[in-house]
Amino acid sequence: MRRPLVAGNWKMHGTCASVAELVEGLRQLQLSDAVEVAVMPSFVHLAAVEAGLRGSRVEVGAQDCSVEAGQAARTGEVSASQLADMQCRWVLVGHSERRSLLGESDAVVAGKFAAALQGGLVPVLCVGETLQEREAGETLAVVGRQVERVLDEVGVENFARAVIAYEPVWAIGSGLSATAEQAQEVHAAIRAQLASKSQSVAGAMRILYGGSVKPSSAAELFGMPDIDGGLIGGASLNADDFGAICRAAGC
Ligand code: PGA
Repeated sequence: MRRPLVAGNWKMHGTCASVAELVEGLRQLQLSDAVEVAVMPSFVHLAAVEAGLRGSRVEVGAQDCSVEAGQAARTGEVSASQLADMQCRWVLVGHSERRSLLGESDAVVAGKFAAALQGGLVPVLCVGETLQEREAGETLAVVGRQVERVLDEVGVENFARAVIAYEPVWAIGSGLSATAEQAQEVHAAIRAQLASKSQSVAGAMRILYGGSVKPSSAAELFGMPDIDGGLIGGASLNADDFGAICRAAGC
């Protein structure tokens, strides 16, 4: 059985005051042991969030890391080993906002995935198609290519220490979630792609869905056989909504 994971991607949101309030709200949540829970604040809030959540069920991750795993002359970058030193356990790599707005290529994403593993973090590899690609019938090809590039870089065995998040670009922040069936189709294809290289890695791999997940849509999505939790943007900024989504994954 795969243990579901629900991760909150706070993106570039929050002030010291609002983050402290959110942490307090997270501490109050009653969370089932059946689900793993993490939040990913911006780098500047990591230390405060980690300290605030210490002893709670909610772990801390980051939204990005450098392709350099250790320390290096990389002004403005943060490495996986620095994040691990801050008690981070997870890191997003290849979020579509970074791919599209910051020009991160599949090759850079693969390098970050490898660096995350090297630095001792669990990479959460984000993949997904644009609306144009979906309408052109290219969804499975695009997602397959994004996953394959990382498989080529690190080998399937290293995916045993990772998580994949399928996030259709058109569903992110748009209020327009993929249907449970649309998401399931892609999740099953990703699992089949991994299974062609390793049945055991594919069987254990957690594949999260992300893109406008709300408390009202979470249970149906998480009820699908290949959806193992969620990567939550907007709704993770509200502790009650985030808690409701975690409960939907944990029963
Ligand atoms: P959203 O964001 O839930 O606000 O759509 C998800 C994400 O970008 O990870």
